[in-house]
Amino acid sequence: ASLQSRNTFGVAATAPVLVEVSDASALPALFADPEFGERLSLVLGGGSNLLFAGDPEGVVLALTGKRVAHLDEGADGRTIVRADAGVEWHDFVMRTLRHGFAGLENLALIPGTVGAAPIQNIGAYGAEVREFIHAVEVFEPATGELRRFDAAGCDFAYRDSLFKRQPDRYIVTAVEFALSREPSLKLDYAGIREELAAMDIPSPTPQLVADAVIAIRRRKLPDPAVLGNAGSFFKNPIVPAAQAEALKSTHEALPVFRGNDEGTRKLSAAWLIDQCGWKGHRDGDAGVAASHALVLVNHGNATGAQLLALARRIAASVRERFGVAIEPEPRLIGATW
Ligand code: EPU
Repeated sequence: ASLQSRNTFGVAATAPVLVEVSDASALPALFADPEFGERLSLVLGGGSNLLFAGDPEGVVLALTGKRVAHLDEGADGRTIVRADAGVEWHDFVMRTLRHGFAGLENLALIPGTVGAAPIQNIGAYGAEVREFIHAVEVFEPATGELRRFDAAGCDFAYRDSLFKRQPDRYIVTAVEFALSREPSLKLDYAGIREELAAMDIPSPTPQLVADAVIAIRRRKLPDPAVLGNAGSFFKNPIVPAAQAEALKSTHEALPVFRGNDEGTRKLSAAWLIDQCGWKGHRDGDAGVAASHALVLVNHGNATGAQLLALARRIAASVRERFGVAIEPEPRLIGATW
């Protein structure tokens, strides 16, 4: 089966076998045949966070369930909303806002599915999805069991989680979110306030914040439906605080953010890449977006291998110029970094 329409880079790739499962409760029976587990090489969500540098060698499994249910009202006034892994992320965000739930507005328009969201702890505009996750439901092929991790058990960090660190151990089947009807708006990040002012909105609601985020993203980030991409291709590097200070003393404009703890800082990979002159660069159909240095794009017929080769050249130039290692955010299939 062709995977070209199942990855947002739109690169050609072929799965020897593609299995679609709409109800996660069917997984234990499917995996009861040990051969199925042995042949499984990839669980595919919206294909928005991976790069096919080669073909997967075995079975590709796609969870297509799209149920959304409102569970109990928690004691703290928050409602648990449960969504199947196969629900489109942006559709889910808009649906929760329509139902009067606040929280996910800063995460509007991120490509991918609900199931992929906790894996890399998606984040944007000052919010991370972990703040709203109540529990993650998974299937564990090794034990044949359906399991459930509460938020603390997911071990979330910046663009990272238990599930990302052990990519083949768990299959995310559904996510439970804890959402509030009381908004607590985050407006201080990356131009949201300015955007709301430009839209002439003096008293924003979560829905209007989502509209502002959508407007900013549409301007800055290429739409995968038009120009293949997987969002940020590199993670913002986390470095020792002393290294960040040293760099800042020679490069005053370098954006430096808070890191994972006191001793670390997060640098802007986009800025580092931009300084090396890559924005808008093109090698055949593999390129860097003209609007954002962190986004690799497929102008048409780039292969995953060509995009990966470009990514390696970008990382090498950043390392040479700034002494900083940058790493891909998407999962690489058929290659290692
Ligand atoms: N910058 C440049 N050149 C560019 C783009 C940005 O120099 O071409 C500099 C600017 O100084 C800017 C700074 O980089 O102030 C930060 O840029 P931006 O606000 O776009 O944020 P980012 O750190 O590059 C992160 C996320 C994005 C998310 C934005 C907005 C990561 C890896 N990326 O990007 O997430 O949308 O913040 O919150 O953390 C994604 O993960 O796919 C993604 C798009």
